[in-house]
Amino acid sequence: MNLKGKTVLVTAGPTRERIDPVRYLSNFSSGKMGYAIAERALLRGARVLLVTGPVAIAPPDGVQVIAIESALDLLDAMQAHAPQADIVIQAAAVADYRPAQVSGQKIKKKDGGAMTIELVENPDVAAAVGKNKRSDQVFVVFAAETQNLLENAAAKLRRKNADFIVANDVMKPGAGFGVDTNIATILTPEGQTEYPLMRKEALADVILDRALALLEAR
Ligand code: CTP
Repeated sequence: MNLKGKTVLVTAGPTRERIDPVRYLSNFSSGKMGYAIAERALLRGARVLLVTGPVAIAPPDGVQVIAIESALDLLDAMQAHAPQADIVIQAAAVADYRPAQVSGQKIKKKDGGAMTIELVENPDVAAAVGKNKRSDQVFVVFAAETQNLLENAAAKLRRKNADFIVANDVMKPGAGFGVDTNIATILTPEGQTEYPLMRKEALADVILDRALALLEAR
């Protein structure tokens, strides 16, 4: 199905939460799933905005890239750009916490004993996007789980007010971070569909097909 005339906003990659000028907290997200969605959406004729954390892969030529670092940056970018999108797909792996203070100087090692960094909660960016979602927009989120995949994903679908959630068990071979494939279950408020192991580009097409079908039904 063609996406001509549609604007697709995709988020991808990890966030980085600064500790001091030389250190940060982050996660293993490679950005591959979000970049695959951006690439497929572009090839299918959409205007594509790619809001991306720091990753090692190049964005597809022709997408509008908005580079972010932290969860707070991501929130700003989404508040600025989500209202213009027909389809918003939140594939970024957002840090749930950030250091309470960012040290202006490199934190020095103290001899002996443990080191403690106090963390404060980051905003749930997806929940904020879901709250402001218009009825003519489609909003898709992801769930990366290591246990209780379906229960956790169903709770996230509701909490984030998304139209559907793409859930994957990152412990399964072929579905974790950094690989070119995924094994997903898509949950909607009405039901769920399990998909076999497939390349991230193929899963991107599944996600875009389902988002477009919802958009056109409105
Ligand atoms: N997400 C977000 N902002 C956050 C945390 C998550 O926008 N602060 C988004 C992710 O981009 C993803 C979805 O919410 O689309 C689910 O993310 P996930 O990390 O699986 O879930 P959490 O809400 O962080 O819940 P938990 O930590 O309990 O797994």
